[in-house]
Amino acid sequence: MTRHTALAAGAGAFMAVASISILAGQQPGSPYPPAKPQTMAPAETPARGAQLVMLGGCNDCHTPKLQNGAPDMLRMLSGHPQNAPLAPEVVGGVSANMLLTAWRGPWGVSLSRNLTPDKETGIGSWTLADFKKTIRTGVDPKGDVLMPPMPIAEIQNLPDQDLNAIYAYLRTIKPIHNLVGRTAPPKK
Ligand code: HEC
Repeated sequence: MTRHTALAAGAGAFMAVASISILAGQQPGSPYPPAKPQTMAPAETPARGAQLVMLGGCNDCHTPKLQNGAPDMLRMLSGHPQNAPLAPEVVGGVSANMLLTAWRGPWGVSLSRNLTPDKETGIGSWTLADFKKTIRTGVDPKGDVLMPPMPIAEIQNLPDQDLNAIYAYLRTIKPIHNLVGRTAPPKK
């Protein structure tokens, strides 16, 4: 066998293994479950809102994580758990806690807020107008300026229809009572 045919045979064997894995819906070596692509939900519906929340990575910050780093969906979007550890102080860096719900940086300390419809501790009493104004301006109805890493600069220009959908979806999720502390400015 020349070097060329040996390479070709090797590549062929690899392709065969790869195509079996792809047929089984999985890339070799991927730790993730096989993807199940959804069809696009109609604009302004809660179902579309759920898709936009996926795309916006809202769970990445607003849902506490399990030991393995996956979001704990039993506490979906309920924010930084009351009394959970904060982010450690790291000189010259930005840090997060293990749940990826508490942050520390040059802006101070920020805690991912409770986005569930709980009236007392979540955003259950917010109107659609409150929600849109918060996302568009980065200032919430209490007058708090939203600090990093909340990606206001990225999502503030979303179309109205998308913000309507996200709000509609957030109304439908399970209300969770969890009082998140407030942001603190940097220590002087
Ligand atoms: C990279 C992390 C991160 C991502 C991604 C993120 N957020 Fe946030 N969000 C935060 C943090 C941290 C705060 C609190 C900021 C503060 O206290 O200054 C916050 C605050 C908010 C608030 C204000 C709530 C209140 O009570 O004032 C809303 C609303 C919000 N986020 C919605 C969303 C939505 C919707 C998405 C997805 C499209 C999203 N966030 C994605 C980190 C994130």
